[in-house]
Amino acid sequence: MLAVAILAAGKGTRMVSSLPKVLHKLSGKTLLERVLQSCNNLNPDKIFIINGHKADEIRKSLKNSKFNKNINFVLQEPQNGTGHAIQVLSRELINFKGKLLVLNGDVPLISSATLKELIKLHESNNSDASLITTKKQNPYGYGRVFIKRNNLIEKIIEEKDCTPDERLNKLINSGVYCFNWESLLKNINKLKSNNNQKEIYLTDAISIVDKAFSMEIENDEELQGVNNRVHLAKCEKIIQKNLIQKHMLNGVTFINPESFTISEECEIGMDVLIEANSHIRGRSIISNNCIIGPNTFIQDTNVKSGCKIVNSTIFNSKIMTNITIGPFSHIRPGSEISSNSKVGNFVEIKNSFIDESVKVNHLSYIGDARIGKSTNVGAGTITANFDGLKKHKTNIGDDCSIGANTVLIAPVNLDNSVTTGAGSVINKDVGENSLAISRSKQQNIKNWVKK
Ligand code: UD1
Ligand code: CA
Repeated sequence: MLAVAILAAGKGTRMVSSLPKVLHKLSGKTLLERVLQSCNNLNPDKIFIINGHKADEIRKSLKNSKFNKNINFVLQEPQNGTGHAIQVLSRELINFKGKLLVLNGDVPLISSATLKELIKLHESNNSDASLITTKKQNPYGYGRVFIKRNNLIEKIIEEKDCTPDERLNKLINSGVYCFNWESLLKNINKLKSNNNQKEIYLTDAISIVDKAFSMEIENDEELQGVNNRVHLAKCEKIIQKNLIQKHMLNGVTFINPESFTISEECEIGMDVLIEANSHIRGRSIISNNCIIGPNTFIQDTNVKSGCKIVNSTIFNSKIMTNITIGPFSHIRPGSEISSNSKVGNFVEIKNSFIDESVKVNHLSYIGDARIGKSTNVGAGTITANFDGLKKHKTNIGDDCSIGANTVLIAPVNLDNSVTTGAGSVINKDVGENSLAISRSKQQNIKNWVKK
């Protein structure tokens, strides 16, 4: 049997935040979700989240999570340290037999592969406790691990309790442990708070049990703990670096990778060129041979092959093949732009369907509209879709020429091959092949000289 305990009750004082530490996000997911994801891949029999500080917020954050069914929340009140957290948990696990994996909720990058390795080692050593350790160039802030022989741990001393000499030890405690539950249960109530922080440390359990092994790993990136926002940024950097590397190896060119960010759920095709300062978020898919950026933000959007998107922002839309967007276009949710169309500078499109080979090149607002094939939308065209109470639709057929500065007052329908005169205000439907013009006649008044 395998149970998992995630420690998430602490205040996270060093974050200087009203948000509990484990609810801070890294690349779109909370620290807690990341830890849960890693341990969920081990198919544990039980998962416990120890919460205390702002416990309600932590519970709520997982309400719609896919892990929710499997989780038991244990309230630690007050929060007297990591050892105290397990003392509180032990009341729930009196009759449990098996392994308890303990994960600090603020060590978010730990991988399931490393956890599996720890469990394997724990089993083959028949240990009472096994602990992931690593040598850190700068071990400041971490508990130092002292080995007696053959990876057997003698003790762990917290930074604040170390002598200057002990502080020189670079081998640190990652905060990821596997315990034989029965031997931990026998000893857990022996832990005392006679240390500089007056807390009950889980790390002291390591020196009480008979056989505690250190599993030292080389790659310390996944062991980065988050105590403050400098650490949070460090973790984000690690995630981004690894993601970008993965995309590079899959055939994506980055002009300035340091200025690019992406979420884990995004996919990018082959021979895509990403220019500087661009960001692809949510569940976006960018297909082959696109050029994205510079200065482009794309969220939850499917971009088909051969598109060029520069200096633009796109949310929750579909962009079909060979489309040029930008500079300075804003495509808002619910839009679909069909192949070979062009959306130019200072154009906003919202919740609209744009058919193939349409041009909306300059300074337009297209909202709640449908525009047919090969239509040309003149500069400054506006769909007036909102009457102050309700949104209405504008339908424009194929092969239309919408004159510059046309205002289309919705609801309104223009059939195929309609032309509107520049500056027209159109609020009546227009039939096929017609010219619609609605503006006051120009008068030229002679001898109009101001004295
Ligand atoms: C802890 C370890 C340290 C290790 C480091 C790794 C102890 C005593 N020290 O130190 O050896 O190097 O993690 O990142 O364990 N928590 C509770 N209840 C409490 C106190 C804390 O659930 O009463 C939770 C926190 O929310 C946090 C985790 O335990 O998620 C670790 O607590 P934190 O105070 O950050 O410990 P560190 O000082 O980082
Ligand atoms: Ca910590």
